Formats: sequence, C-alpha cells, structure tokens
Amino acid sequence: MRTAVVTGANRGIGEAIAGELAARGLRVVPTSREARQGFVTLDVTRADHVAALAVQLAGEGGVDVLVNNAGVSLVGFDERVVRRTLDPNFLGAMHVTDALLPSMRPGGRIVMVSSGLGSLTGVRGELRARFEDPRLTREGLVALVEEFPRDVAAGVHERHGWPSSAYRVSKIAMNALVRVMARELEGDPRRIFVNAADPGWVRTRMGGRSAPRSLEHGARTPVWLALLPDGGPTGGFFRDEHAVAF
Ligand SMILES: NC(=O)c1ccc[n+]([C@@H]2O[C@H](COP(=O)([O-])OP(=O)(O)OC[C@H]3O[C@@H](n4cnc5c(N)ncnc54)[C@H](OP(=O)(O)O)[C@@H]3O)[C@@H](O)[C@H]2O)c1
Repeated sequence: MRTAVVTGANRGIGEAIAGELAARGLRVVPTSREARQGFVTLDVTRADHVAALAVQLAGEGGVDVLVNNAGVSLVGFDERVVRRTLDPNFLGAMHVTDALLPSMRPGGRIVMVSSGLGSLTGVRGELRARFEDPRLTREGLVALVEEFPRDVAAGVHERHGWPSSAYRVSKIAMNALVRVMARELEGDPRRIFVNAADPGWVRTRMGGRSAPRSLEHGARTPVWLALLPDGGPTGGFFRDEHAVAF
C-alpha cells in the first residue's frame, strides 16, 4: 500500500487532499501543527518535529507521496511578517521534503501546494532573471530568498524588484524550489517527480467565504500530481491539471 504524508491536514485544502488520497486507497499519514488525535504532530518550522517524522516513516518502510500543503498568509508587511511567512511556506516545505527524501520509495511524488500569486510576474527586472536562471542551485536559491527580509528591513525591496507581499514571495520561492529540486532529482534512479499546484481561490479559513472554489475542487490538482503515472511531468506548475507558466 502506498503511503502519503500531508502537512497541515487538519483543515482546509490539506484535509481535503488527505481525504481524497485515502479514498483512492493510499495509507495517509495526516499531520497537524497542534497535537490532536489521529494526527502526527508536525509544525513544519520545528526541526525536532521534522526529524521525528522522518525517523517514523523510515521505520515504517518509507513514503510514496509528500504533499507540502501547510502554509500561512499573515496580515501586515515588515521583516517579521516576511520571516514568519517564509519559515513555514518556503523553508518548512523544503526541510520536510529534504528530511523525507531519503526514505522516499521509487516512483515517489512530491507536491508543493503553491498559489497563482507565486507567479514570477510579481518579480521585476534582474531579480526575475535570477529566479529564472536554469543554473540556480539550492544554495543559490536559499541565499536569494534570504535577501528579501534583509531588503525589506533596509527599505529597498521595491527598488530591488520584490513585490510588497510576504505571501507572494514565499510561493515564488516555493515554485523556484520545485524547478531546482526537479534538476537535483534528474539522475535519481527512483524517478521521483516534484511539481507545484495552484489550487485556485478556495473557501477555507485562508481563502475566506466568498472564494468560488470548494475544498474538493481545490484538492483536485494536488491529488492529480500526487498520483501521476510514470511518464511525468516533473518540475512544473499546474492549475486545473494543466501546466501554467511560472
Ligand atoms: N485557500 C485558497 O484560496 C488558497 C489559494 C492558493 C493557495 N493556497 C494554499 O493552500 C494551502 C492550504 O491553505 P488553506 O486555504 O487550506 O488554508 P487554511 O485553512 O488556513 O489551512 C492552513 C493549514 O496549514 C497549517 N499550518 C500553518 N502553519 C503551519 C506550520 N508551521 N506547520 C504545520 N502546519 C501549518 C494550518 O494549521 P493550523 O490549523 O494549526 O493553523 C492549517 O492546517 C496553503 O499552502 C495556501 O497557501 C490556498
């Protein structure tokens, strides 16, 4: 039986993804930031939680699907808000993925629940070219994203091409991570695919009541990416099961 880990599975789109994967016959390990019955406790910003989950899954024989769904959209815009957004949305997703990758079985699938707001159209000039550079490495990406809170603190982020939104940059960074990781995994004999999903605007605590999409609709593309057949794709960005431009 295939095993799927879903972060932030206690509510919203994550809960819908976990439910749908279970309905498709996968063994789902739902995780939640707060301790609650039936969930593995995983605050994606906590290294001890991430390490414990990795040990647990390795002991259980590995993982086939990882859905990095946990995320926040905070009010306000300053260096603190930026760091409190990047930590779960970008760095958390990256650390969880890195921790589970060694025990990922052949044919593994990694899904990043991103956003249409993660489009590179939000980034201007030379900065955009740096994100799009096909030679961008993991270290290079982390260093590039780290410039954002520093630029915000120094009051120069707009001049340097960044949007004035912590959430947007966190998803732009997550999308860039998908491209970098797909390149990193190119030679891996396990043929693991990594892709980003834009769920659309969904009725959740984050999306609000007036969002047009149901939870089921929002979960559809992440679930599709979690169950991709051998042929791929990998390293892409998808909405409604179709590739969209980064
Ligand atoms: N709703 C939309 O319209 C929309 C659109 C585009 C993208 N998205 C993305 O879809 C994903 C799910 O969002 P949603 O709409 O379902 O939002 P939501 O209802 O606010 O759920 C967010 C989930 O993430 C969890 N979470 C937040 N920080 C965490 C952390 N540090 N560690 C572990 N879990 C954490 C929350 O846990 P708690 O319950 O403990 O807070 C909750 O389970 C997010 O990545 C979001 O950016 C949503």
